[in-house]
Amino acid sequence: MTDFRGRTALVTGASSGIGAALAEALAARGADLVLSAPSEERLRPVASRLRVLHGVDVRMIPVDLAGEAGPDELAERTLATGREIDVLVNSAGFGTRGRYEELAAERDHHEVMVNVVAVERLTHRFVPAMVERGRGTVINVASTSGFQAVPYMAVYGASKAFVLSFSIALWAEYRSRGLQVLALCPGPTDTNFFEALGSRMSAGGRLRTTDEVVTSAFRALDRGQPYVIDGRLNYLTSNASRLLRRGFVAAVTSRVLGPSGRG
Ligand SMILES: NC(=O)c1ccc[n+]([C@@H]2O[C@H](COP(=O)([O-])OP(=O)(O)OC[C@H]3O[C@@H](n4cnc5c(N)ncnc54)[C@H](OP(=O)(O)O)[C@@H]3O)[C@@H](O)[C@H]2O)c1
Repeated sequence: MTDFRGRTALVTGASSGIGAALAEALAARGADLVLSAPSEERLRPVASRLRVLHGVDVRMIPVDLAGEAGPDELAERTLATGREIDVLVNSAGFGTRGRYEELAAERDHHEVMVNVVAVERLTHRFVPAMVERGRGTVINVASTSGFQAVPYMAVYGASKAFVLSFSIALWAEYRSRGLQVLALCPGPTDTNFFEALGSRMSAGGRLRTTDEVVTSAFRALDRGQPYVIDGRLNYLTSNASRLLRRGFVAAVTSRVLGPSGRG
């Protein structure tokens, strides 16, 4: 098990779900934490719990990453703590679902800002110092949705395709320079994601737990993988979709996720 004692991790989306679970796993391995999410009120219980359970230093920096200035504000306030960031976890994110023309344009724009722009910007802010130190870890939370076009969640699928491609490219650039970059690709997982989406979509199977997702992430880090798909069924369906024609996969998915679909 990788030891993170003496290291500091910045975790976005840390107030719930996969981000909170990754923060907890890092604290259990000894990392001090800088936790971020839009609301301090929602971060506070996570921070208190991790301080008590793991005796690590935990700071909170509430920032809304949907705004243009959000990622730089988070980077500046993090650097102002005087801590070097050894681990960056980009977990903040949400989805939108529905007929594209009916979705609120502003919400879709915020989705791109949080899921794509903030991930790239924060990576740019923290990776150069990691390169200088010759060590560092970046975990970007992508999704199985990143492997295919996702009708009725078009912006979400495209945003996660960006995270997947971006992270694998950086993995290849930095693997010989002491940095680990991992695209973590969960499938449907039991978090607040579906409440935020406004839909209790089901993939037909049970939802994975955040503990399972975290176990997959750390196993992949230990193996030096560029990306990991959590769960065997998710692995099979994501890879099957890559072997089939993209249009065919999108057409089938639109029947599942569309207005008259079961999803
Ligand atoms: N759950 C799934 O099925 C699933 C599957 C594949 C990938 N993912 C990805 O996993 C990541 C974490 O999602 P989750 O499942 O853990 O859902 P979640 O429980 O809803 O957590 C989302 C986190 O992102 C934060 N966030 C939302 N909007 C934000 C904004 N504008 N600025 C900054 N932070 C913001 C939320 O803060 P608040 O608590 O204040 O809302 C929360 O901390 C996301 O990138 C998601 O796309 C989830």
